[in-house]
This record gives sequence, C-alpha cells and structure tokens, in this order.
Amino acid sequence: MLKRLLLITAFILPGGAAMAQDAGFPLQHADTNINDIQSLQRGARDFMNYCSGCHSLQYLRYNRVAKDLRIPPATMASDLMFTSHKPFDHIVSAMPAADAVTWFGKQPPDLTLESRYQSVDFIYSFLKGFYADKTRVWGVNNLYFPNVGMPFVLAPLAGVQKPVYKSVTDSSGQAHLELIGVAPMSPGSMTPAQYDRFVRDIANFLDYTAEPIKAQRESMGIFVTLFLLVFFAFAYLLKKEYWKDVH
Ligand code: HEC
Repeated sequence: MLKRLLLITAFILPGGAAMAQDAGFPLQHADTNINDIQSLQRGARDFMNYCSGCHSLQYLRYNRVAKDLRIPPATMASDLMFTSHKPFDHIVSAMPAADAVTWFGKQPPDLTLESRYQSVDFIYSFLKGFYADKTRVWGVNNLYFPNVGMPFVLAPLAGVQKPVYKSVTDSSGQAHLELIGVAPMSPGSMTPAQYDRFVRDIANFLDYTAEPIKAQRESMGIFVTLFLLVFFAFAYLLKKEYWKDVH
C-alpha cells in the first residue's frame, strides 16, 4: 500500500512541478501585490484594452470587477466594457471561435484562471519573453513558451527584443547554437521600467481574477489571527483564575 502511494506521488509531483517550467528558462519574479488597488485598476484597464479582443475572462462579470476594484460603474461602462455588453455580463471576448481558429490555429485560451493554471510569475515572464523570430508565423517566439501562437500585441509599447545565442559543443564534438536569453533590439514607446510596471499590473489583475476573494481573505486572515491571540490571552487568564485554588 505504502509503496503504491509513493509510486503515485512520484508520478504526480514532477508532473506538477514541470508544468510551468516547460521552457527551461527560470521565471522572473512578478513581485505583485493583490492589495494594491491602483495596480489592479490599471491592470483591468490594460487587460480590457490590449488582451480582451482575443482572451475572455468568462468566469467573471463586469459588475463584480467594478465593485471589487472600486471602479465607478460609469467609468466601467465607458472605458472597460464592450459596448454591446451589460454590467452583469460575463467578460467574454467578442472574437468568434471559428475565426480565432482560422487566424491562430487555436482559440486564445480563457485567462480567468491562468494565474492558477500557470502562475503569476509565468504571466509576467511570458509578456516580457517575446523575441523576434522570422521562422514563426507572427515573426515572434517566446522564451517561456517556445513556438507560441500569440502575436506580440505589446510590441509598440515594449519594443522588440532579439535572441542571444551561445555556441556550445555537445559530447560528440558537434558545435551548435543554444538560446541563452534576449537583448533589446528596437525600443518601444515605454521605458523598460514603465513596461515592467505595465506587465506587473496585468499579472496582478489576473491574480485577482483567479480568486476575486483573495485580498479579502488575506486581510480576514490577519483579523482572525489577531482575534485568536487576544482570545488566547483571555483564555489563559481564565485558566489561571480557575486553577488558582486547586494548587
Ligand atoms: C490577437 C489575439 C491576442 C491578443 C490581443 C492577446 N493574445 Fe494572448 N494568446 C493568443 C493566442 C492565440 C494564444 C495561444 C497561443 C498558443 O497556445 O500557442 C495566446 C496565449 C496566451 C497566454 C498563454 C496561455 C497558456 O497556454 O498558458 C497568455 C498568458 C496570454 N496569451 C496572455 C495575454 C495577455 C496578458 C494579453 C494582453 C496583453 C494577450 N494575451 C493578448 C492571442 C492573443
């Protein structure tokens, strides 16, 4: 029984750990903060402007986002919603599935749970990992998602990066080039620091979409811990009081 259990764990664990690491490049740390409401608001705005044309957040409704992120309903409606949508609608991309498959070979995945399926660091790294590659359909590849089928829609902001290769000799004495990273090629409209913040905000927002209650849960956790500490103090005093006469 124990042996079988160990065997099962052996299969499950490396599989799970390998998922986000497929590309082999270590992910960059996103350093997001789910309690930074302004970052979440910027992330929501930027997601709606740059990503929602292709990607849905189908498990979320507009009015939920507006309430959680304290976005006034009027601003939500004028700046962040597809014109034909109502506040209680789910955030579903307007792109017809059949067209998406024709254009991209597959449907752009729903991103509501992306930060759980992959990770916040993955989203952050992925959006910083595009580099020029003439052999690909969209002229780009990605360090963290080899042969990705997504065009680099943020190139006007981020600029374009070029791949950096190193010559390595394998055991049979054959030399070949190995991709070791990227370097700036042509600048975009944002500075690297501005682009980092832009991408961090989107990653933060997608952390929120995967678990809208997270910020609330964390502050509740602090409250519960404080309550338990205070309660413990009283319980201890009470215990001392009860046992005073016994000893
Ligand atoms: C023009 C359409 C389009 C736009 C706009 C777009 N994407 Fe994508 N995206 C795709 C497609 C298609 C894929 C699937 C690529 C694949 O699987 O090879 C994808 C894949 C992804 C993935 C990887 C999903 C996975 O499999 O884990 C992430 C993350 C992602 N997009 C984030 C974004 C973000 C964030 C934005 C906005 C800044 C954005 N995308 C804008 C088309 C788009």
